[in-house]
Amino acid sequence: DVGSSSNIKWHESPVTRDAREKQLNQRGCVLWMTGLSGSGKSTVAFTLEHMLQEEGKLCYVLDGDNVRHGLCQDLGFTAQCREENIRRMGEVANLMANAGIITVVSIISPFAKDRNKVRERMENKSDFHEVYMKIPVSVCEERDPKGLYKKARAGKIKGFTGIDAPYEAPENPEITLEVNDGNAAEMARELLDYLRSHKFLE
Ligand code: PPS
Repeated sequence: DVGSSSNIKWHESPVTRDAREKQLNQRGCVLWMTGLSGSGKSTVAFTLEHMLQEEGKLCYVLDGDNVRHGLCQDLGFTAQCREENIRRMGEVANLMANAGIITVVSIISPFAKDRNKVRERMENKSDFHEVYMKIPVSVCEERDPKGLYKKARAGKIKGFTGIDAPYEAPENPEITLEVNDGNAAEMARELLDYLRSHKFLE
């Protein structure tokens, strides 16, 4: 009976999302950062979180490596595991956006259909903002901050994204960040400006 919703019922809270957002003086949303390993997703995400914290705003980063230590510790890197990883991240992000939190998800999320499913599952479609870290594999491989590309090239990691596993670029991302957009702080500033101009920050 796993997955059956016949005996469970949705409870509506007397506290509305609107009330939560008023309390926090911000609007919840999801910035979904997708891109290759080494493209800078985590660095930009955590820099943005820090900037928002300094402005008194509540932001939280759901980072792939971090969440794989707990909620997703049972998942590996097959297409099926990545699909489930993306789904779980999407569900948590949806809840957090409902809580009024500016939620930044930083995971490779290599499959377009899985990212699109997350967008579809959002309570408000306008909560989901796809941020494409458009950094070529050559640049990521040169950076190789964790030495993983080296291992993948040596055949010590199989199915590494961008080397012998696919990455499907977003077709219509809300935001694209590229090498010439500057360093992590400048990219985070761009995201901050986006949040401000889209009225997520009061
Ligand atoms: S995914 O595809 O969205 O489920 O991946 P994600 O949860 O973001 O995890 C990516 C990080 O796991 C490490 N790693 C790998 N990445 C890609 N392919 C393979 N086979 C792999 N094995 C381990 C790697 O450190 C990724 O971290 P980032 O931060 O992206 O560099």
